Amino acid sequence: MNPTLSTSYHGIQLPHPLVVGASPLVDQLDRVRAMEDAGAAAVVMHSLFEEQILLDNLVEETFVDAHEDSFGEAISYFPSTCRIAPDADSYLARIARIKEAVSIPVFASLNGRTDRGWASHAAEIEQAGADALELNLYSQPTSDETPSDEVESKAADIVRSVCASISIPVAVKISPFYTSLPHFARRLESAGARALVIFNRFYQPEINIEDLTASSTLQLSDSSELNLRLRWLAILHGRQALDLACTGGVHSHTDVIKALMSGATTVQMVSTLLLNGVSRIGEILQRVATWMEDREYTSIDQLRGCMSHSRTPNPEAIERANYVRMVTSAQLRDRFGPVKW
Ligand SMILES: Cc1cc2nc3c(=O)[nH]c(=O)nc-3n(C[C@H](O)[C@H](O)[C@H](O)COP(=O)(O)O)c2cc1C
Repeated sequence: MNPTLSTSYHGIQLPHPLVVGASPLVDQLDRVRAMEDAGAAAVVMHSLFEEQILLDNLVEETFVDAHEDSFGEAISYFPSTCRIAPDADSYLARIARIKEAVSIPVFASLNGRTDRGWASHAAEIEQAGADALELNLYSQPTSDETPSDEVESKAADIVRSVCASISIPVAVKISPFYTSLPHFARRLESAGARALVIFNRFYQPEINIEDLTASSTLQLSDSSELNLRLRWLAILHGRQALDLACTGGVHSHTDVIKALMSGATTVQMVSTLLLNGVSRIGEILQRVATWMEDREYTSIDQLRGCMSHSRTPNPEAIERANYVRMVTSAQLRDRFGPVKW
């Protein structure tokens, strides 16, 4: 019997959990159609950045003194490609065109880190027809005067103001770098988030030791990046009503199954589609279905979270015990030799 793959993601019914993650893959209409044909359950659009919205506003508000604060300087760090990327208005037009072209759900993406007033733009995204909003809170605090609670409160405030201005579901894309992620997740849920997207990938700078320059090159992921996601999916699953989307390192049907078993509601892919083409969605989906059928799983719900912490009585103690076992195991002694003083 064919397993049921359907799933509900932050209130939106999907035929299966495979979603195309935020990327330029959604920047061409023909490719979006190809993704629908290949079986994508939904697509996430390339982000519209806070800086782009604020830059638009700045151009309009000619009376604004650009030297009043650091924004004018900050924007100069942005690559010129960012400034020719779609502005806020053309982003809205794109949502409408994609919605006309395909019948799968389209999730818009806003990427911001301050509460400078750009959040109200979410309402226009909803009006343009987006089925949901992915809110990417990509930021890297570097000041030693900012306590972690302030970082989290700021993020929760952004989520609150975005959620208050729209009625479509909001998923929040976060990084793994929070002191108490389960507690932070609870705060985001209280602020109105319906789902978490786990995790943002930070692009690591490359240092040239000869000319003392730093550059960021785009490196696509591989499956080794998945483990961090699996760990946190397993910890967060079932604690709140939040749905969990996995992004980062999903390249095969086994990766998808691991993410679902850890507690993911949906699984996003980008790198593998950039490397192998969008037809990869259909191949992976077929393999997931065959794998489930061979093992007599009848539905995704049966699979979801079966390897999560919610199935263990004292997850914190088990985490610690696994860690201690790993670093003191006989396997290590066999590999590196016995202790000798
Ligand atoms: C070329 C490229 C552009 C991306 N653009 C965005 C973006 O605009 N917004 C966003 O939230 N994530 C963006 N991402 C991150 C992806 O959505 C995804 O989280 C990340 O690539 C990890 O997934 P993967 O391992 O399947 O590639 C981008 C990734 C790539 C490779």
